[in-house]
Amino acid sequence: MSIREKVVDLIRNKSTSLPTLPVVINNIITTAKSDKTTAADLAGFISNDQALSARILKIANSAYYGQPREIDSITRAIIVIGFKEIISIALGSEVFRTFSRKSSRNLIDMNELWKHSIAVGFASRYLEKMTRMLFTESAMLSGLLHDVGKIIFTLYFPDEYEAVLKEQRSTESVPLDVMEREMLGIDHSEMAYLLMKHWNFPESINRPICFHHNLGECPFEYLNMATMVNVADYISHCCEIGISGNHRREMPEEAITGLGLSADSIDRIIEQLMADRPRVDGFLEAMA
Ligand SMILES: [Fe+2]
Ligand SMILES: [Fe+2]
Repeated sequence: MSIREKVVDLIRNKSTSLPTLPVVINNIITTAKSDKTTAADLAGFISNDQALSARILKIANSAYYGQPREIDSITRAIIVIGFKEIISIALGSEVFRTFSRKSSRNLIDMNELWKHSIAVGFASRYLEKMTRMLFTESAMLSGLLHDVGKIIFTLYFPDEYEAVLKEQRSTESVPLDVMEREMLGIDHSEMAYLLMKHWNFPESINRPICFHHNLGECPFEYLNMATMVNVADYISHCCEIGISGNHRREMPEEAITGLGLSADSIDRIIEQLMADRPRVDGFLEAMA
């Protein structure tokens, strides 16, 4: 069986040890998919889960959101920080916790990978604001979860992934996703897509993540979000926040133009993200 077939089997076979998400998260995913859910419904689901509520409040009160007054309820968090953003925090932090409880061989430092992911989340959020593009989901969530496929490789295919990382380190110029496709027949973007589809995440999040390194193949309706994650990934590499397992990337000029932005505007986001550095640590701590 090829690695690709083993991966597909891992996702399809119900008896495998793939983690399941708690019921509250399934409710939130349903909320995210429906345009009929109100802020009160969302607050109700979250407030029923004490651990999740506490975590969301901790993140909402972290330095990143810079709130002048303490946010002490989920209802207030939704009003102040926003409906889509709270969904992002809930889903992102739950996926983080799901994997942080699993032991890995440390092929990639998980804390560093999450710092990279948070930085891509922040940069995606800045790009979303700057371009004024409107999405069904928050760009922050796509950024937070864009590299989750690497965690699956690390946990479920450690020997094979160790070989990929070793080979990639020795051939400086080959990007990680290309090396993954060459050696495993599947890259971390598609791996993330399969996992998130299995978890029932909305396609508006799954698809952009699936194509974040392969914009040329991305269906048109998901292209803007996928491009945003691609550019946010470049920005976070420029700021050297966390470690993604990849080399520093070339400037994705076509993607930047595709978002209607200039190199100058990207420089402004790089500056903003550099200033966010200490807030990334605070965000990571609050997610735990
Ligand atoms: Fe990636
Ligand atoms: Fe990345």
